[in-house]
Amino acid sequence: MAKSQSLKLVQDKTAADCGYKRLVGELWTAQQRQMHSLHYSVSYRGSFKPELPDFCIKRYSEKGAVVLDPFSGRGTTALQANLLGRVAWARDVNPLAVLMTRAKTNPVGLDEIVLRLNEVDFARPVSLKGYAGRLSPFYHPDTYRELLNLRTHIIRKRDRINSFIELLALSRLHGHSPGFFSVYSFPQISIPPERQELINRKRRQSPDYRPVAPRVIKKAAQALRDGFSSDFFSVSSANDIDIGDARELPGIPSSSVDLVVTSPPFLDKVDYLTDNWLELWFSGIDMRAFGDQVIMCSALDEWRLFISDVLKGMLRVLKPRGYAVVEVGEVETNGGTTNLDEIVAEEASKLSSPDKRFVVEEVLVNQQQFTKLANCFKVDNNRKGTNTNRLVVLKCVPKKSRQRRSRNQAR
Ligand SMILES: C[S@@+](CC[C@H](N)C(=O)[O-])C[C@H]1O[C@@H](n2cnc3c(N)ncnc32)[C@H](O)[C@@H]1O
Repeated sequence: MAKSQSLKLVQDKTAADCGYKRLVGELWTAQQRQMHSLHYSVSYRGSFKPELPDFCIKRYSEKGAVVLDPFSGRGTTALQANLLGRVAWARDVNPLAVLMTRAKTNPVGLDEIVLRLNEVDFARPVSLKGYAGRLSPFYHPDTYRELLNLRTHIIRKRDRINSFIELLALSRLHGHSPGFFSVYSFPQISIPPERQELINRKRRQSPDYRPVAPRVIKKAAQALRDGFSSDFFSVSSANDIDIGDARELPGIPSSSVDLVVTSPPFLDKVDYLTDNWLELWFSGIDMRAFGDQVIMCSALDEWRLFISDVLKGMLRVLKPRGYAVVEVGEVETNGGTTNLDEIVAEEASKLSSPDKRFVVEEVLVNQQQFTKLANCFKVDNNRKGTNTNRLVVLKCVPKKSRQRRSRNQAR
């Protein structure tokens, strides 16, 4: 049974009689950066606030539970699961998301980072092939040389320390302040070189030399500030984080998961490939190798089919009496506003496997004046994204076996 938290939730009066509870309230704080410092080590398009998985994991699972996020992104659910003493399983089709999730759930010490950076030959001359025009609007040639040397070092040996350094370096690739490797640029997305050229002209700026190692170390100190309990490492050693399509959940056995907490891609609001091109370059990931699996639906009907397949996968892997929390928003299409939670609830109710089915336990709507998520989608007129978090809570219930049913009927 879901645990009750001291929350003020009211019945959503605007909701049609849909046969389940739809409750509205402020489920978590609207303030920014209140959770563990490691959550803020890197940004990622479409990520949710760590308060969301924190709320769901505490409400719908016990310590030691297996928590799965089939659309892991930057690993917010996985990290929060480990911080709360749960084992994290995660899948994402984007290898960059998998790198981030693995690194975040395998933090290393600041001293290890410093020692490892000392081993990198940042001064080694590099070829400038591919620099001019593409990377030159962002980086000074000396910063580029250091970046390339760090990149080669990491790609050659992706052990725990290098993977964590990679996470930190990814977070420093572009942004506003001198703490980034690039000249003043957009923090949330990697913009195309031509757009960066325009910014440079407008701001009368050109890339200055930004030494790489001190910036990585400074970021490491921030990210690791809150520390980790020994509990964290004992649960995270049982994590399973891999590349995989959420519709298939490869490698995840049936009836093995206690809780799913996830946020699927909505309609085609976020382009996880082009918006991350600098990060993909740094990590040496060829986006053509996986791009066609990244779901970008432009029509609701298409999204409905996609989410139905995803729910089918979740039903397979959930233990009987386990929960799935699917976070969606509302979208504006030509036909008007659609609350995606209604589609998720409808599709989940239709599904059934030989031994399990879903029931909609509740829909919780987090209403806030401002959310980072909404800001990141640049919601201004509610046409571009989402401005509420709508959590569809599904309970996986065992079906009565035929034998038991006929016994009951005979009585
Ligand atoms: C809304 S983001 C999730 C963000 C995540 N909650 C976080 O906090 O970072 C959706 C993620 O789904 C991934 N994705 C898209 N299509 C997928 C698919 N078919 N299977 C698995 N992951 C997919 C994208 O790569 C992206 O990382």
